[in-house]
Amino acid sequence: MNIDLNVNGKPVSVEAEPLDRLLDIIRDKLELTGTKEGCGEGECGACTLFMNNKLVNSCLVPVMHLHNAEIVTIDGMRDFDFFRLISKSYEDNGAVQCGFCTPGFIMSTIELLRKSHGKSVTDDEIKDAFAGNICRCTGYDKIIKAVRQLLTMNITIPERFYE
Ligand code: FES
Ligand code: FES
Repeated sequence: MNIDLNVNGKPVSVEAEPLDRLLDIIRDKLELTGTKEGCGEGECGACTLFMNNKLVNSCLVPVMHLHNAEIVTIDGMRDFDFFRLISKSYEDNGAVQCGFCTPGFIMSTIELLRKSHGKSVTDDEIKDAFAGNICRCTGYDKIIKAVRQLLTMNITIPERFYE
């Protein structure tokens, strides 16, 4: 079957199998390999991306839900200034070790910064924002420290990434 969708601001048309998931389309058909596959069962958050402006686990989204969907992946974020600030804060705070979980954490960080703009955020709210992301090596303290630093920087995240 042929699926038309918009990925990182560009219209694309892909040939898909009925059992493909959004993650398969992104990584295998479009070769946007910044989005990772961990558990494949909606538990680890490594495959997190934006679909129609909402965070989703792309391993759980079946291909039949994708027609005309608007997808933004970590590979489509790299040219934004806010992305560079987030990456730098993660690096400066030692919040990345193997890096496998990092794309998912960064996507959840983007959503937290977008929702919390101008408001104070507690550590519990930060932890809630990462409820769907698992890191097996860094530990969460350094990630929370990186996010705390970002929350002091008054970073603006656009309501839509591509118009
Ligand atoms: S690979 Fe999708 S949640 Fe783990
Ligand atoms: S940095 Fe290795 S899983 Fe998080």
